[in-house]
Amino acid sequence: MTAPKLALATAPVSDAQVDAIVVGTVQNGSGVALAPGGGSVDAAFDGTLAEVLGALGATGRLDEIVKVPTMGRLKARLVVAAGLGKPDADGAVTPEQVRRASGAAARALGSSRHVASTLSTVDLQAAVEGTLLGAYSFSAYKSDPAKAALAKVDLAAPETGGTKEHRATLKAATAIAEAVIVARDLVNTPPNDLYPASFAERAVALAKDAGLDVEVLDEKGLKKNGFGGVLGVGGGSARQPRLVRITYKGPKARRKVALVGKGITFDTGGISIKPAANMEQMTSDMGGAAAVVASIVLAARLKYPLHVTATVPMAENMPSGNAYRPGDVLTMYGGKTVEVLNTDAEGRLILADAIVRAAEDDPDYLVETSTLTGAQLVSLGTRTAGVMGSDEFRDRVAGIARATGEGGWAMPLPDELRADLDSRLADLANVTGHRWGSMLAAGVFLREFVPDDLPWAHIDVAGPAYHAGGPYGYTAKGGTGVPVRTIAAVLADIAANG
Ligand code: BES
Ligand code: MN
Ligand code: ZN
Repeated sequence: MTAPKLALATAPVSDAQVDAIVVGTVQNGSGVALAPGGGSVDAAFDGTLAEVLGALGATGRLDEIVKVPTMGRLKARLVVAAGLGKPDADGAVTPEQVRRASGAAARALGSSRHVASTLSTVDLQAAVEGTLLGAYSFSAYKSDPAKAALAKVDLAAPETGGTKEHRATLKAATAIAEAVIVARDLVNTPPNDLYPASFAERAVALAKDAGLDVEVLDEKGLKKNGFGGVLGVGGGSARQPRLVRITYKGPKARRKVALVGKGITFDTGGISIKPAANMEQMTSDMGGAAAVVASIVLAARLKYPLHVTATVPMAENMPSGNAYRPGDVLTMYGGKTVEVLNTDAEGRLILADAIVRAAEDDPDYLVETSTLTGAQLVSLGTRTAGVMGSDEFRDRVAGIARATGEGGWAMPLPDELRADLDSRLADLANVTGHRWGSMLAAGVFLREFVPDDLPWAHIDVAGPAYHAGGPYGYTAKGGTGVPVRTIAAVLADIAANG
């Protein structure tokens, strides 16, 4: 798929030689009203556009698209009205509302090749992200891919700020959306083509392209260095595991951030095999790894003044004669031992190795993300990530996740769950003997491998990383790229505030 080219509009949109013009609408009491930026388009309708839209049944609700033919009133043949939903008491809408409306518009443009948008006057960054992400589709495996029509989008500039600032915003937002797309592409690539070695190769290519240092441990290197968690989990597959390390040293870096992401390229559950229903969705079990790889490349593209490392364990969890079994004891990187009671709780095992390795570099912060537990979906649903870790940093990350629109909620790590991970044989077991607080128990397990004084956050994106339903806003079916925008915003926040 080729992404449309986005540019700042040089002429007023009402004069634009385009196929369609996107305007925003909002819910206004029981009726529909135009969002700011639609004024000149409305003028071409002699101020009746809201009335026309109302007559067509438009309400302004989020994700609503209503098309109006211009009948020669404008050079564009069509006005596409995209609902932003309810404004707040001051009449303002959130960036996420602009992102969603821009995404819905990009999906609804049909055969239009060149369009103009006024949603960018409300929030330029959100309009750029929403447009690029809404236009995304993954057709690498279609023998006859539908050709994307949308080639060019002219964005009306916001009233505040100068051209230089707008250009910088466009550039940064484009880079952010492209990083989300990198993660989506990785998640959407099927597990017969994306396995540990091929995933590692793609990570190396992305890192090299951004001028980053990268190192890959194959099964021999993993053995030599004692990565018992990654080797245990990955041993059942004919496609052996990898550990990828990417380093970015930004200009004037004062803080060091370690990123870790779960890279299970397919999770059958192993010997504790999963039921067949929906197992194909376990192609997304490397969503955390994809996000981390995309994010460190983005940090380099945006030249964040940080030192960032990405430590990415990659393995395929398969049952076989070489597979690890319930009852095995693994010696993890760093020496702790773990009794495996369930081979389907594999993510925490590869992450434990990666976390210990990442912490050796003495980072100031650790951000780890993974599609770790079905319990995340049970407790928070499909779109809200569970954020655990050290109290202060966890709350900071959860707040940032919500500000980006990706969504996240702080969850506790109850001390009493630690005793439930006691093992008859080893330092700890990989699961508790019950189903209560299963997302939290996974976090409590990971905490055992994090140095006491290191501020850390664990973002469980089991639900948010993959969208199984129909498209909405800027989200298509399949990989979502969550939590790339959260990680990017956390890095930007650390760069700005320490
Ligand atoms: N990859 C799964 C978690 C998952 C479930 C991700 C649904 C996305 C959607 C993970 O490896 C897993 O199997 N977790 C088990 C843990 C259990 C055995 C303690 C789970 O959540 O059932
Ligand atoms: Mn599993
Ligand atoms: Zn898994």
